[in-house]
Amino acid sequence: MPKIIKIKGRQVFDSRGNPTVEAEVYSDDGNHASAIVPSGVSRGTHEAFELRDLENKEYLGKSVLKSIEIVNTIISKSLNNFDTFDQRKIDQTLLNLDGTKQKKKLGANSILAVSIASSKLAAISKKISLFKYLGGISSNQLPLPLMNIINGGAHASNSLRIQEFMIRPEKAKTFSEAVKICFLVIQKLKTLLNQKNFSTSVGDEGGFAPSLNNNEEAIEFILESIEKAGFKPGNEVSICLDVASNELYKNGKYSVQSANFDDPKKTIDYYLDLIDKYPIKSIEDPFAEDDWMSWARFMQLIKASNKNIQVVGDDLFVTNKERLSKGIKEQGANAILVKPNQIGTLTETIDVIKLAHKNAYKTIISHRSGDSEDTFIADLAVATGSSQIKTGSLARSERVAKYNRLLRIEEELGKHAKMANI
Ligand code: PGA
Ligand code: ZN
Repeated sequence: MPKIIKIKGRQVFDSRGNPTVEAEVYSDDGNHASAIVPSGVSRGTHEAFELRDLENKEYLGKSVLKSIEIVNTIISKSLNNFDTFDQRKIDQTLLNLDGTKQKKKLGANSILAVSIASSKLAAISKKISLFKYLGGISSNQLPLPLMNIINGGAHASNSLRIQEFMIRPEKAKTFSEAVKICFLVIQKLKTLLNQKNFSTSVGDEGGFAPSLNNNEEAIEFILESIEKAGFKPGNEVSICLDVASNELYKNGKYSVQSANFDDPKKTIDYYLDLIDKYPIKSIEDPFAEDDWMSWARFMQLIKASNKNIQVVGDDLFVTNKERLSKGIKEQGANAILVKPNQIGTLTETIDVIKLAHKNAYKTIISHRSGDSEDTFIADLAVATGSSQIKTGSLARSERVAKYNRLLRIEEELGKHAKMANI
């Protein structure tokens, strides 16, 4: 059994140009592996803690040097001689070392970098692909991509209120076909935006960030692109939204529709109207992270409509087992967005996915808006049999890297590869 002999942290930079943590773990069989943690901007308050050097003026308070020091000292010492194949024990030791609920002592960024790098190292030592190491050798299901093709909210400097306007190729038979469909719709969208003199420069997640007037205008552009690309809206390519409504919530009211704040009932009606009017199949964070009542009321209406709409908790659940259990009990959603850095260890991430699947919740493995060349989430999606992955548009290498990794996984699986269906 290979043993951990050294762990080294280093400060690198994410796709927004902000410092972030990379950890490199070495084992006594001569192997080593590294992982880089991402960072979000529309964060839930219940997420695990990201440790930054707020007082370090040299990096405008954004460096992660303390976190690197923790990796190099406390963590490295505590995991010395650990069996690299015992991920649960590695993660439990990291949890014990920290001892706080939100990982405030060591920082979730320090912990997660080591947790993920250890799993990559184990796969290398076993000489098998990461997705097979994580999910077992029979893992063979590729996720449907949810591509964020128009960026708004906190991810762009336009005035779109909804944060993410995505497309999902509903019926793709292979992952490469799914990517091809998205590519064709994106190219059409680019042409249409150009024709109407809108900017086609991109936002944080690689989607276009035109200065459109309102949500509907963005949806209309996407709808036309789907049709002009030759696909049936809803049937072949659907529209999915991430409202990220935490950012649009104040004193019990929401400014989702316009800059005016409406009470939740009006916001619910607005969503129901959108669903009626457009081929929308998934809505993420329609309500704020602690507005459980609106989530439950919305779900009831969705169920009654028989429309098979996916209602996704991101900031609501923050990849946290306790919060997901509450959601299951209160019937607040039917899907969970999974971001490993919201919780901080790989074991906890996998446990939350298992709980979701046990309760017939869909799982969507997700990047963060500040991400890197690390493609870990692509392997995680296949390993856990998650039906979907959300990792931006077909632009910006930190987004495309995940899609390219999935294409390689599909090729490796050959005739055993199968595509998730919704
Ligand atoms: P974030 O947003 O990574 O900026 O927090 C992504 C999301 O809300 O899904
Ligand atoms: Zn979200």
